[in-house]
Amino acid sequence: MIILGIETSCDETSVSVVKDGKEILSNIISSQIEIHKEYGGVVPEIASRHHIKNIAAIMEESLSEAKVTLDDIDYIAVTYAPGLIGALLVGLSFAKGISYAHDIPIIPVHHIKGHIYSNFVENDVKLPLIALVVSGGHTNIVHIDENHKFTNLGGTLDDAVGESYDKVSRVMGLGYPGGPVIDKLAYLGDKDSIKMPEPKVGEYDFSFSGIKTSVINYVNKMKMKGETFREEDLAAAFQHKVVEILCKKTIGAAVEKKVNNIVIAGGVAANSLLRKELKEKAKKSGIEVYYPSMGLCTDNAAMIAVAGYYKVTYGDEKNKFGDLRLNGIATLPI
Ligand code: KG4
Ligand code: ZN
Repeated sequence: MIILGIETSCDETSVSVVKDGKEILSNIISSQIEIHKEYGGVVPEIASRHHIKNIAAIMEESLSEAKVTLDDIDYIAVTYAPGLIGALLVGLSFAKGISYAHDIPIIPVHHIKGHIYSNFVENDVKLPLIALVVSGGHTNIVHIDENHKFTNLGGTLDDAVGESYDKVSRVMGLGYPGGPVIDKLAYLGDKDSIKMPEPKVGEYDFSFSGIKTSVINYVNKMKMKGETFREEDLAAAFQHKVVEILCKKTIGAAVEKKVNNIVIAGGVAANSLLRKELKEKAKKSGIEVYYPSMGLCTDNAAMIAVAGYYKVTYGDEKNKFGDLRLNGIATLPI
């Protein structure tokens, strides 16, 4: 089964060809990060315009690298939710055009499920599992049963993890995106030199706004006093507190649901401390942790094609296809 994946939910235009849900024949990603950097974050209107400009060429490149034509494609898997609505509609309309012209069925894919299934490419992941979804827009703990049924156990009540990284980075003058910079800087600092607050929320819920505000207040206080501070200490304190919370809640969920497998998904799954700590801590409870290779952590169309494969072959939504009335949805629970 050959699936063409299309992803345009945020600032990456990506088209991929995946065989049998496992073999990535191509995964072309055109990132707009350099364009949005100037504005300190993604500008939705600019993102949509760049998707329109690029998508046809990206698809041609993807098909050519995979050495296939549209005649070889069995299904088109496209992200329809959640995301920036204008950006989503570009990929969706493009998918509908190809579907209509070449009579290829469309599989609508939830972006977050795409992130979760990115783990299935390189690992032999066993179900049931707990997925920790951590990206610029999402922070969720999800349970997935043997039949690929998804249940959201909890999520953030305010900022997403990646969003907090980006905001903290901005206030520290470290640029966008904040995650990779803070991740690196944190290794040079002393995590105990600045105290971070402990959020008080439900078992599987998260709140990062208190921690983020604490960093912002610290920076402003030092600026007002005209004092300098060690950026690496602040980065270390912030990163360690965030990772500590993510690990505690995710392992807690796996233990309570009697699940032996955890996957991490989303852009923040690239965080080196999270990858290391979660694996080490879960091991003590006999739980295996999987994460995708770095290239599959951030937005890409291969993960959408893989999620599409599982959607048509397993679970409640097996063989459910989208038609030309399919719409994009900006906010949609998993
Ligand atoms: O999944 P993604 O590519 O896009 C969304 O769907 O949001 O995630 C992007 C987010 C950004 O907030 C970025 O700062 C964060 O992932 N990120 C990281 C790291 N690399 C990317 N956060 C922490 N540590 C990293 N190494
Ligand atoms: Zn994403």
